[in-house]
Amino acid sequence: MEPDRSLALDDIRLGYRDFWQLPLDVREGAFETLRRERPIAFMEEDPLEEFPQWPVGPGFYAVTRHADILTASKHPELFSSAKGITLQDGPEEFQEIANEFFNSIIGMDDPRHARLRKIVSGGFTPRMLAKVEADVQASADRIIDRIRSTGSCDFVTDVAARLPLEIICDMMAVPPERYDDVFDASNIILGGADPEFAPPEGTDPIAHGFGAAMTLVNIMNETVEARRGEEGDDLTTTLVNAEVDGERLTDAEIASFFILLCVAGNETTRNAIGWGLHHLCENPEQRRIWQENFDEVAPTAVEEIVRVSSPVIYMRRTVTRDGVQLGDVVMNENDKIGMFYWSANRDEAVFEDPYRFDVRRKPNDQLGFGGPGPHFCMGAHLARREITVMFRELFDKVPDIEAAGPPDRLWNSFINGIKHLPCEFSPA
Ligand code: HEM
Repeated sequence: MEPDRSLALDDIRLGYRDFWQLPLDVREGAFETLRRERPIAFMEEDPLEEFPQWPVGPGFYAVTRHADILTASKHPELFSSAKGITLQDGPEEFQEIANEFFNSIIGMDDPRHARLRKIVSGGFTPRMLAKVEADVQASADRIIDRIRSTGSCDFVTDVAARLPLEIICDMMAVPPERYDDVFDASNIILGGADPEFAPPEGTDPIAHGFGAAMTLVNIMNETVEARRGEEGDDLTTTLVNAEVDGERLTDAEIASFFILLCVAGNETTRNAIGWGLHHLCENPEQRRIWQENFDEVAPTAVEEIVRVSSPVIYMRRTVTRDGVQLGDVVMNENDKIGMFYWSANRDEAVFEDPYRFDVRRKPNDQLGFGGPGPHFCMGAHLARREITVMFRELFDKVPDIEAAGPPDRLWNSFINGIKHLPCEFSPA
């Protein structure tokens, strides 16, 4: 997509919700302008007048170049994850509970981060991963078989969303009758400004978000109880029994990790698959290259889908001391930065012809899974696998699938969401 460069530098207001509703070509143009003219730009925050209980934030720095994001990612001692992972802070009491309940390891610094990450990554045993790989195949099979005879469906809700949901729930041994509750709750948590996931009229938005998080906590508590003392390859059983350096995870830590998995592993993979189909349909010659030589092209095609879709638009860090320099800007303790992966993934200093969707792009140093550092995505391998298997199944079983309309985008600055995408194919 060619950028629309009509937005003037001073009119680019990433801290305001309206910006995130602009057409994507205008978003592309705005980030190109920032990278070129003000690569670390101070942004004011939306006062959110309809939510008086929400404090007006002090603003943040938008970091838009690939090189600066690499630097910040490699220095967690200067750029902390522990004061929030999204840019807008809620009321103080909300923030504290949110950090504790929603964020798990993604919102921690070392040494606590390293200790917990070691325990949970110990749960990703080769046996568990081998089982998950087989499950991804079986699950993708089932999902496509369910839609095959229909000739049309909503690609996001019927296909793209189902795979990561089934895999994470299965990995955690959540019973299938709770899958839809997990789906609804994670949509609400990451719904952002989007009216489709907004609270019913008269409901406090904070209570609505907490309600969704509590649904996940309850599902996990039930699952933990069911698995305690049992044997099994699932992650919950492993985490309940895991002991590293004499320490075990508490039930609250397991529940909070489950919320992170639901949010980090579900929405992201769903959006990569959803945007993936959109880009393949928009670029039929690229689709042909992949479809004709699936296995050879898959590794680069998947990387390109993650680059172009950038399912996580940014991650926040908070500066830990006065006088920290990034690029030309000197920052102070508690200053917030947004590392805009979306923008880094289009940085012309790193990517040749960045707006071209190229399934054979190599090298492809995309930052969709985060920069090099302690928080690099724990599920990157699994996500790549899910995207590969899903497109292999689609090309095998519904090879003429086409998007039948424009993507219905989520109104959100954090997640590049795609809520619905109508699609059509010859029914089997
Ligand atoms: C295309 C799909 C995915 C994308 C684009 C993605 C992206 C990311 C990003 C950007 C981060 C944060 C890095 C940072 O703080 O800078 C992250 C962290 C994380 N992701 Fe993913 N992710 C995906 C899929 C998954 C899956 C499938 C899982 C698990 C099943 C997962 C689990 C995690 C976890 C646990 C973390 C936190 C790691 C830590 O803080 O130490 N992700 N991911």
